[in-house]
Amino acid sequence: MQITDLNLVDQVQQVMKINQRQFCDWKYTIPSPKTYPYQWLWDSCFHAIIYTRLGQLNLAKAELRSLVSAQWSNGMIPHMIYWQPSTISIFPDINWGSRKTSSITQPPVLASAVYTIYEADGDVNFVREMLPKIEKFHNYLLRFRDPRGNHLIGVINPDESGEDNSPRFDEALGLPPQHDFQDNFRQRLKLVSDYRQNRFVIKDAMDKEHWVRDVPINCILIENLRFQAHMYKICGQISKQRQTISIRKAMIQAMRSNLLRNKIFWSSVGLGYRPINVKTWAIFMPLYARIATRSEAEAAISYLIDKGEFNTTFGVPTVALSEPSFSPDGDWRGDDWAGTNWRGPVWIGPNWFIVKGLQNYGYTRLANHIIENSLALISLSGFREYYNPLNGEGHGADNFTWPGLVLDMLA
Ligand code: GLC
Repeated sequence: MQITDLNLVDQVQQVMKINQRQFCDWKYTIPSPKTYPYQWLWDSCFHAIIYTRLGQLNLAKAELRSLVSAQWSNGMIPHMIYWQPSTISIFPDINWGSRKTSSITQPPVLASAVYTIYEADGDVNFVREMLPKIEKFHNYLLRFRDPRGNHLIGVINPDESGEDNSPRFDEALGLPPQHDFQDNFRQRLKLVSDYRQNRFVIKDAMDKEHWVRDVPINCILIENLRFQAHMYKICGQISKQRQTISIRKAMIQAMRSNLLRNKIFWSSVGLGYRPINVKTWAIFMPLYARIATRSEAEAAISYLIDKGEFNTTFGVPTVALSEPSFSPDGDWRGDDWAGTNWRGPVWIGPNWFIVKGLQNYGYTRLANHIIENSLALISLSGFREYYNPLNGEGHGADNFTWPGLVLDMLA
């Protein structure tokens, strides 16, 4: 498919502009003016990709430079950077126990963002500048989110997955499939305070119970290790390239040994890899990571095209229709922030990963269908955080940047 709608490009440009911010020399983009007035990790990687497609390579690079400037000395890139206070925000004050940034991370999409920029302008120096930061971040994940060397990383808080209240985490949080969003948020805040009180050391309860080996973040790391290896090659660092390829292979093997059941990869909880059999869009992520065999890819596709599971009027819901946790809307009511809804609505970020995965395996018609649905949602309801998959209504944050990823899907 091709971009034929110039109006769409203008609209993306306008939303990005509304969200641009500067602090001293640091330029960054917030995801949404009222709801998310700070810099977020995977959002910024998406932004860099969107800027690249808009031909604004300087902004793409500035976005990532600001992001990595907040990297901790142990290699972690925090999922939020509070460059400057916001006066209009409805985002709650959270005591992360660290100054100016949060103390947890988010999915490592950085290498793919850097590679997208490199493909557009061939700037090897930018790759050389970013590679050490990427390496340090991936090494942090491999060391501190996989302390026993099992080759699978865990998330210690659902927010690290980027899918804050996904039902994949219900069991770990001790919540039933249907519960109040506030209860979910309270449990996640408790994890933040436990982690802070433990001085960022992962202690027993978190390790044993909340240690969720989540499929999407592992798939994202696997694919981003592939980008990392490729960029080492571009820079002539062949032994590092080889090392990265072998880490990636070990991760793929661990995914197959521990998470694969009946041709589908399921996230797991606890040290014994107890499978979490909740059907979410995570089912499609092994295609993004290129780790599914043809018959495993077909098993995932059978869920994608099933009208009782993920095949809805407006595309791929984040949770299957047949799940008791499925909840298609999501604007919270009342004064207190309860966060977002990852329990059913369509999000354009997940659509982007799914489209890439389908394209990897040659399912072009299905990929185009998701792109068309994404475009239909934007034209019906604008640049929203998420959409009801049944009627296309927009919910959550407004002037939200992620829908701009359609430009990359069309590239
Ligand atoms: C919400 C989303 C998260 C995103 C953040 C900023 O918390 O769940 O994935 O990074 O908003 O957009």
